[in-house]
Formats: sequence, C-alpha cells, structure tokens
Amino acid sequence: MNTFHHFLNELPKAELHMHLEGSLEPELMFQLAQRNQITLPFDSVNAIRAAYQFSNLQDFLDIYYQGANVLQTEQDFYDLTWAYLERCKAQNVLHVEPFFDPQTHTERGIAFATVINGIDRALKDAEQQLGISSRLIMCFLRHLPESAAFATLEQALPYQDKIMAVGLDSSEKGFPPELFERVFTKAREAGFLTVAHAGEEGPADYIGQALNLLKVERIDHGVRCVEDPALVEHLINIQMPLTVCPLSNIKLCVFKDMREHNVLELLERGVKVTINSDDPAYFGGYMTENFVAVADALPMTKAQAIKLAQNSFEASFLSDAEKAEWVKRLQQL
Ligand code: ADE
Ligand code: ZN
Repeated sequence: MNTFHHFLNELPKAELHMHLEGSLEPELMFQLAQRNQITLPFDSVNAIRAAYQFSNLQDFLDIYYQGANVLQTEQDFYDLTWAYLERCKAQNVLHVEPFFDPQTHTERGIAFATVINGIDRALKDAEQQLGISSRLIMCFLRHLPESAAFATLEQALPYQDKIMAVGLDSSEKGFPPELFERVFTKAREAGFLTVAHAGEEGPADYIGQALNLLKVERIDHGVRCVEDPALVEHLINIQMPLTVCPLSNIKLCVFKDMREHNVLELLERGVKVTINSDDPAYFGGYMTENFVAVADALPMTKAQAIKLAQNSFEASFLSDAEKAEWVKRLQQL
C-alpha cells in the first residue's frame, strides 16, 4: 500500500451497495459446506476462485446462487454477516446498508426468520463491538414473478424493525422495474424506503422507470445513465445518488477496463456517485480495493476521494443530524 492507498483505507466510509451473499469468501463457503454436510462442485478454495471468471451478469449470478446453498442455519447467516463487518472495520467502513436476497433462501426451504435473525444479530453486535452502524435492505429477485415478490413482502412485515428498505436485484435485462411497480407501491405504503438496481446491464430507460415508478431513494449502479444526456441532467438536478461498483463493473464486463470507467467523470459533472463493492468475495475486493482500483487507473485526487466518502454518508439512510456529523468529520481531513 502506498501513502494514498493508506489514506483511502483510513478514510471513514459508508457502503450502500453490497449483497451479503456476495461476501461469502471461498474459505467460509468450504467451512459451511463441511458444517452442513453439503458437497460442493469444487474440491479446493483455489478451484472456487479459479471459477470466478464471468463474461456478464448472468454468468456470475449462476455461480452466486449456487454458492449461497451452503447457508442453512441462523448461525451461518450470522457468520457470513460478521465476516463482512470485520472487513469493514479493517477498512474504516463505519456505516453499512447491506442487501440480502430472502428468496434465494426461502426458495430452498430456509425460513425467512432464520435468515433475518442471523443477519440482524450480527449487525447489532457490530454496532456494539465494532462501532459500525447499519440499515438493512431486502431485495426482490427480478427474475422471479411479481407474486413471489408480494409473498416475500408479506413475510417481511413482522420484521419491519429490522429492515429499512426494499430493493430490486438479479438478472436485469428483460426484467424492467415496471414489472415491480405494484409491489414497490405496497412496500412504500407499509413504510419501507426503496432502491433498485438499474442501468448496470440494462438501458438508461430502466433508471427512469426506477425513479418514476418505484420512487427510489437511490439507483444501484446507474452507470448507463450516460446514454441519455437529459437523464444525467435530471440526476444532477435532483441529486439522485448512484451506488457505483467499479470492480464489479470490470468483472462483469460492463466496462472493458478501469481506465474507461465513468465514475470520476460523473462525480466531476455533479452526479452524486458513491463507490461500493457489490459482491466483494467474487469481484476481487471490498471498499478499499474498489477505491484503490479507481485511484490507480484514472487517477483520483484526495479531494475527490473525500467527496466520494461524503456522498456515501449523505446518500445513506442516516438522519440529517448523523449525516452532518460525518460531513463535518470528513471536512476536517
Ligand atoms: N445480485 C448480486 N449482485 C448483483 C448485481 N451486481 N446485479 C444484480 N443482481 C445482483
Ligand atoms: Zn448489486
């Protein structure tokens, strides 16, 4: 690590786009497979890592859903979440708003309660023991039907004290946000905030749909907004946050090379972009690795790094007073 890399690691940061199932490192996958007597289609951690070559989002999702099968008990969900939070602590990520995909688990017979209770217990322990605050986001899988999303929303209602928002993830192309307008309306009426993946592989029009139909607080990814200049102007005017995931975008071939990534260009144009890790166990790193990859390729100034960190707190679901505290702290750097 050079001095700037060290600065990026120590910079207080918030992470707003990270799938807990995507933080399952091969070592833990192996350990949980043994604990739960599950046979993996790989015979070593190295073989798992070697399989992580993707040419698009669907390639990745196929492996990601298969990996999640090792998660069976409440303790497994606790261990998964805790391992992520320890990484956050080491990288000075002090506020997190992670996603989880209940349908990935309920579809294979794991109870909703098992999933949420394990995750929630780890998040609460992290607040106490690591000083990391959190808000949890439940995502609907968009490749599954609207009826399945409605059933999932129903299951979440008793746990509203543990879930702040709903999101939309999985295969994007061919599954536009408009398919989920009704379930998002119901979620908002129940008191959930909303976010959605849009403009990762899918067109800029999906970003417009997420804004207008799903009434999202943030767009997850959103990098394809540049294909519609009027949309970019709109995102700037309303200061709509985009939770950008640089290493993910390279691994899934959204951009060919980090030198072509548009995150700093969007930042300079006044779009409220943040940097996030998406699925860190699959894409080559956590928050610091994402900041470092951008800084090395583009390059990034210290002022830009601070602005990105400031955006991450401002775009969070923390209260205005909490956001102001973080901004004050960052401006002293
Ligand atoms: N689920 C996990 N990671 C995802 C991504 N990058 N896009 C859509 N769904 C996902
Ligand atoms: Zn994502």
